[in-house]
Amino acid sequence: MAMEIYVWKGDITSVQTDAVVNAANSSLGGGGGVDGAIHRIGGPKIAEECRILKIKKYPNGLPTGQCVLTSGGQLPSKYVIHAVGPVWKGGEYWEASLLETCYKNILQLSFERAFESVAVPSISTGIFAYPKELAAPIAIKTVLEHKGQFPRKLIFVCFDQETKDLYEEILNKSGTEYKEGISSF
Ligand code: APR
Repeated sequence: MAMEIYVWKGDITSVQTDAVVNAANSSLGGGGGVDGAIHRIGGPKIAEECRILKIKKYPNGLPTGQCVLTSGGQLPSKYVIHAVGPVWKGGEYWEASLLETCYKNILQLSFERAFESVAVPSISTGIFAYPKELAAPIAIKTVLEHKGQFPRKLIFVCFDQETKDLYEEILNKSGTEYKEGISSF
């Protein structure tokens, strides 16, 4: 059964899915943007689980492209997948490959945990300054190439209209069916 794709404009902390993806950094110590919102709304349990993961598994930090799982704390979603996207450095430092790896690892973890539904922000396109128009095709291509039966539903969460228009333009061009909004979710 093909994965159902959704494109929705809003705040990822308000989405009720099995997992939401956090646009984290290697320190797993929180930050601004998505990271700030998830920790603010999700509460201290998420930060504590990140702290323990850092000490026990990633003393040198979570490498770019990798992801780890914590509970969702007080978020509507059950879990948070903390993923570290690449910082944009001009395009000559394997950023595209690292971003693709990041999405692949998110999908692989979702498959292994048999998550029905996962909400993903536009990783690296905020503070990490990855140009949206270069990142969006990578996000969509990687999701569409995913073969696992999980997740069954993937929501691209766009924080602004520009990002939503971009995702929809790419999905339309590729002839991919998608649903807008998450009321039917
Ligand atoms: N919900 C959904 N999307 C959001 C939200 C939110 N609450 N807040 C920001 N965004 C959007 C941004 O507009 C951008 O399109 O998510 C995308 C990713 O932006 P960032 O959160 O800034 O993440 P990123 O660019 O990957 O940078 C990660 O920022 O917050 C720090 O600790 C984090 O160091 C890490 C870096």
